[in-house]
Amino acid sequence: MGCGTGHLARQLARRSLAVTGVDISDEAIKLAKQQDQTGVIYRRMNIENEDLRELGKFDVVFCKLVIAFLKDKTKFISEIPQLLTPHGAFILITPVVDDPQNANAHISAISVNEDELKRTVKANFRKIESIKKKLSPAHSWLTLIASP
Ligand SMILES: C[S@@+](CC[C@H](N)C(=O)[O-])C[C@H]1O[C@@H](n2cnc3c(N)ncnc32)[C@H](O)[C@@H]1O
Repeated sequence: MGCGTGHLARQLARRSLAVTGVDISDEAIKLAKQQDQTGVIYRRMNIENEDLRELGKFDVVFCKLVIAFLKDKTKFISEIPQLLTPHGAFILITPVVDDPQNANAHISAISVNEDELKRTVKANFRKIESIKKKLSPAHSWLTLIASP
């Protein structure tokens, strides 16, 4: 979800996985298709307001460095369980702000509030694993692995 020019999508497809990459940007999808020799299916879609169910069902849905750009994060996250196979997982990777007083504006613009995000994910998934890694004194990378 929000695959950009498809770097992660290609990495996964090289491991013989069937991958679909979705992004709102025509330019990103065009560049992704040009670089692809792995058979990734690319779709131009707005993940905020188009029906994601038409993409089918997936064992894993990745969303890396995208959630901060969405206006209605709650709606998007609530739609993900419907896209997963019974043992599927949602992997959400995003920068989060740890210390708003000392936060760099550029990183903050692509970061989210960790507590709010976790509350939203908890409301939609049964099992959640959380991994945090320091990115700067005021920010961390947060990875949530969520199963319905
Ligand atoms: C910072 S890039 C991350 C790209 C990729 N996930 C990565 O980690 O390299 C954010 C991507 O989210 C996409 N995006 C933002 N809002 C979106 C939306 N509503 N629907 C689909 N894609 C969106 C942008 O077009 C952009 O390619």
